Amino acid sequence: MGERPDRNLALELVRVTEAAALAAGRYMGRGDKEGGDRAAVDAMRLVLNSVEMDGVIVIGEGEKDEAPMLYNGEVLGTGGEPQVDIAVDPIDGTRLLALGRANSLATVALADRGSMFNCGPIVYMDKIAVGPEAKGAIDLEVSPLVNLRSIARSKGKEIADLTVVVLDRPRHDKLIADIRRAGARIRLITDGDVAGSLMTAWPDSGVDALMGIGGSPEGVISACALKAMGGEIQGRLVTRNQAEAEAARAFGLDLNRVLSTDDLVRSDNVFFAATGITDGELLDGVKYYGDGARTHSLVMRSKSGTVREIIARHRWDKLMQISQVKYD
Ligand code: FBP
Repeated sequence: MGERPDRNLALELVRVTEAAALAAGRYMGRGDKEGGDRAAVDAMRLVLNSVEMDGVIVIGEGEKDEAPMLYNGEVLGTGGEPQVDIAVDPIDGTRLLALGRANSLATVALADRGSMFNCGPIVYMDKIAVGPEAKGAIDLEVSPLVNLRSIARSKGKEIADLTVVVLDRPRHDKLIADIRRAGARIRLITDGDVAGSLMTAWPDSGVDALMGIGGSPEGVISACALKAMGGEIQGRLVTRNQAEAEAARAFGLDLNRVLSTDDLVRSDNVFFAATGITDGELLDGVKYYGDGARTHSLVMRSKSGTVREIIARHRWDKLMQISQVKYD
């Protein structure tokens, strides 16, 4: 006997990311990173607070007094069951949005209380991520060449057929040279490695792997999505200086440890939603009409493995009578 279908919180989470995208989308190309981020955060907080849950932010935007943002430790939801950890990235790619570039997303994930990895004060993580076909074929501790050979074998491809997403940063000069020497193709992105990770598991994206150092919160959020999509991510925290290394030790973090998908999010009950803000390979951006807007979202849940695409049409005349967020 199977279980009775239970509540899919991701279907409620999509309202959160839609709200963030609708509010932030107004800032496309306006060169105002902070304005866009604030709009997304305010909308996200408001809608998250309406979800029936007792949620605590584990992956947020800094500590309480540093940022007027969704801060780590903030309690959200109406209270009561379920007790969950929350990871938010109201805009992955604030610069992409400010410059009107592709692939900025609003994202949020939920998992059972105590199951998300707490990166503490460490903001960067070295990562390798792949989709379901290459699950089990990666190892952060071996060279790009060895990983690419193994990914190619798992996918029944040649290394020359593989495309690797890498953040375009000077810190990746050696990684980029190694991937080129191995013979794979590279997709250099200026920002947005959550979208990059998601693409590895998205059948038609043409992306096979993500490699390199990006944000550690983005690593946990990507792990939530990849768990639901059947992919894999491995990460290792990276410090930039002695002070960060000491802060990591004081927080009890092991900088040598390779964190598996399960280390990054232990629960098998993980919910994830993302809504496109600007157009991208994965999701369309917000389109505004005079009297409303259209959003495109991904909604997923690890327990069932179902990934839904949701296109929503929002009507200002109705929405503005009930919403506290000013979208129109
Ligand atoms: P924001 O969403 O905070 O703008 O981050 C964008 C991003 O590109 C992430 O996707 C990535 O993980 C991180 O920044 C990389 O950090 P950095 O820009 O410092 O290299």
